[in-house]
Amino acid sequence: MADKHILHMLSPLPQVSPFDVNMALDAGYDAVLPYSRIEASDVQGLVQDAIFSRPPKLAIRTGIFIGGRDAIAALDMLAAAKAAMVPPFIVSCFADPAGSFTTAAAMVAKAVQQLKAAHGRTLSGLRVAVFGATGVVGFASAVIAALEGARVTMVGHTGVERVAKSADEIGRRFGVTVAAADGASDAAKEAVLAGADVVFCAGRAGTQILSRAQVAAAPHMLVVCDVNAVPPLGVERLGVQDDGVVLSGPTRGIGALAIGHIKYQTEFGLFRRMIEAQKPVSFDFRDAYAFATDLVG
Ligand SMILES: NC(=O)c1ccc[n+]([C@@H]2O[C@H](COP(=O)([O-])OP(=O)(O)OC[C@H]3O[C@@H](n4cnc5c(N)ncnc54)[C@H](OP(=O)(O)O)[C@@H]3O)[C@@H](O)[C@H]2O)c1
Repeated sequence: MADKHILHMLSPLPQVSPFDVNMALDAGYDAVLPYSRIEASDVQGLVQDAIFSRPPKLAIRTGIFIGGRDAIAALDMLAAAKAAMVPPFIVSCFADPAGSFTTAAAMVAKAVQQLKAAHGRTLSGLRVAVFGATGVVGFASAVIAALEGARVTMVGHTGVERVAKSADEIGRRFGVTVAAADGASDAAKEAVLAGADVVFCAGRAGTQILSRAQVAAAPHMLVVCDVNAVPPLGVERLGVQDDGVVLSGPTRGIGALAIGHIKYQTEFGLFRRMIEAQKPVSFDFRDAYAFATDLVG
């Protein structure tokens, strides 16, 4: 009997994501097992139960996936999974809560591709505003952009308090400085846009974040990206398939499906890497960003 590729999917939520289940099976896993309502304290026991059930040479065919809706919780669970390994019983791991690491990686990689192509720039030193920053995609986008050397501001649609806490957490965890700003009114959003070179919109599905007039009035905006594919879209009249479309002046726009195409290939590709690996691997948002960057060239 062929040795099966088995993926154990752990999530703190009541269900694991059907999106992730489908993608893992389509990528080549023979079996995908969901475990819901899992906390970091449960991870050691589950992982050790999985690793000791197969001889070490089969470890490479066993994987752990971490889902959920919280980037920090997922990173903590990933760390707990890695700490639970007992050499030579080591299996591969991948964290992508709510698809956020691969979505954020795709959005930042597409923005950098456009910055280079249209403006001859990288993210380094540019001012990046992240709308929808209390969400998990916005959070991960802020971290990736800050680690790329951007001057990131997380914008809160209910005020500055929650994004300020997230910015502090990013500073503690990742050693980068991220600012926080209020985006609760049009005037507050426009004040943020006045000082932004790159804008990431990671708002709730079906929620417009920026009007076309606000984009047109932003004096320095080089690139604006939106990941919301559900009408009304996050940026008025930035179409889901738009990929570097000129919105006004120097501003180029990238829509949700142009980003989603890279997100899909990134998540699928990282599952393939787990399946094909000769040694155990471990993937988080950094690996997703490296993969997405290679994809966009
Ligand atoms: N294109 C792709 O491949 C792809 C893949 C995955 C996800 N997505 C999309 O990415 C987006 C973000 O995902 P997520 O999981 O981080 O979503 P989320 O948890 O729904 O969070 C989105 C953000 O939008 C904020 N928000 C809620 N209502 C708002 C309003 N009326 N005005 C402004 N902001 C508002 C949320 O604030 P609160 O904290 O107050 O709720 C949060 O900051 C969603 O649109 C999702 O559909 C796209």
